[in-house]
Amino acid sequence: MNVTHTRKAKMILEKDYQISEVDPRLYGSFVEHLGRAVYGGIYEPGHETADKDGFREDVASLVRELQVPVVRYPGGNFVSGYNWEDGVGPKDQRPRRTELAWRTVETNEVGVNEFSQWAKKVNTEVMMAINLGSRGVDAARNFMEYCNHPGGSYYSDLRISHGFTEPYGHKLWCLGNEMDGPWQIGAKIAYEYGRLAQESAKVMRGIDPDIELVVCGSSGRGMPTFAEWEATVLDLTYDEVDYISLHTYYGNRDHDTPNFLARSMDMDQFIDSVIAICDYVKAKKRSKKSIHLSFDEWNVWFHSNEADRQIEPWSIAPPQLEDIYTMEDALLVGSMLMSLLRRADRVKIACLAQLVNVIAPIMTETGGSAWRQTIFYPFMHASIFGRGVVLQPVVKSDKYDSKDFTDVPYLDSIAVLNDEQDELTVFAVNRNLEGALDFDCDLRGFQGYAIVEHLVLAHDDLQATNTALQPDNVVPKADGNALVEAGHIKAMLPQASWNVIRLSKRAQ
Ligand code: AHR
Repeated sequence: MNVTHTRKAKMILEKDYQISEVDPRLYGSFVEHLGRAVYGGIYEPGHETADKDGFREDVASLVRELQVPVVRYPGGNFVSGYNWEDGVGPKDQRPRRTELAWRTVETNEVGVNEFSQWAKKVNTEVMMAINLGSRGVDAARNFMEYCNHPGGSYYSDLRISHGFTEPYGHKLWCLGNEMDGPWQIGAKIAYEYGRLAQESAKVMRGIDPDIELVVCGSSGRGMPTFAEWEATVLDLTYDEVDYISLHTYYGNRDHDTPNFLARSMDMDQFIDSVIAICDYVKAKKRSKKSIHLSFDEWNVWFHSNEADRQIEPWSIAPPQLEDIYTMEDALLVGSMLMSLLRRADRVKIACLAQLVNVIAPIMTETGGSAWRQTIFYPFMHASIFGRGVVLQPVVKSDKYDSKDFTDVPYLDSIAVLNDEQDELTVFAVNRNLEGALDFDCDLRGFQGYAIVEHLVLAHDDLQATNTALQPDNVVPKADGNALVEAGHIKAMLPQASWNVIRLSKRAQ
């Protein structure tokens, strides 16, 4: 017999208690030349839905559903060995290269021009990364000139000769990728990297003063270099850059779901620590400027680890990092989105890593269909309904202890107010695996707001997935029971569920 244990949580929302406006780029994503992200993912000329440029329309349409405002490209680890020149000009003259980050062969059929065209097709901006692993200042300068300089110089005229008359004006640039990681091609110590980033930033801004720059933080909070790396790199680059990057991936390798669902608390601490380091350097420099955070790689990643060890080296676009996401992964992704929103005052950019096939919300079969993984839904909900101002909630929830965390609230929740539309959205994860969560939210300053809908993503089986054969096994339903009573939202949040409670003044 299954025994259920209902837990309780209360929240207070006050209209004037606001954290920050959400920068829409919080809902960015990432496409790397890795596995089937590009080839067989966004690009497959022979596919029945391919457009004249070879881009899959079925995939593009799912990307549009997510309303992703920015996509990081072309890596990732890939970028640290990439020659951007290989991917421009006539396709039949582009070289095939051994790709050392993932030990595959890169055909270079898609490069900066193709990707920029695709970005327009899916209504997104490109967040471009430069190679500071095997290359440096010279390539950074030339690449910037190729992309953003109007014309009348060698590299801008080269772009024009390739058929792209208008400069792209790509605004957001990453100064390399995970440069502290020993796995990175051309990995560096903090001082070496900081100086290289500083000098690269100088020439890039020399070409285009309007760009924004992201300097690499540590590749993870668990790295031995963490904290000291950020402090040293920012000390060298503070005046040249706008953002510092954070990356994190979580997994449930030991099948301990209560502990897994608490991992977003690690993300909260990671964000707070990086803010503290940025502000320490600010104080040291007596600077008026604040450095913001670009959480440009985050997700669940572990399901595919074993399969990836079996991949034959030097294949073209093999199925790498193809995590098939479960219901419980969607819950953690929901909580991670809320961690980003909670610090929307400092986290201005974030990229779900990645977008298609490679640890991604969208999966495809090469030559076949495309479908939404479980994690597609919390990401889409946040991207669509999580725009506006994040409110500072007061939360009182029953709690539990797990292997790595103490006082884990069963309720993980945040709210976003869209004042222009008179809409309020409450996002909530019920981490209780043994029953519902009795949720009471005191709405202060929200007179006249009524429920529009209460979306719920839940499944009896926390390991349930969506596949090509069963693409709609785990889907949200508008069957939540939230109602407004005497100025409070009352709802029973189902066991282990992701909830989106939408309210509007106009709903009455
Ligand atoms: O997103 C997959 C990989 O994870 C990226 O290439 C790298 O930056 C990180 O280690």
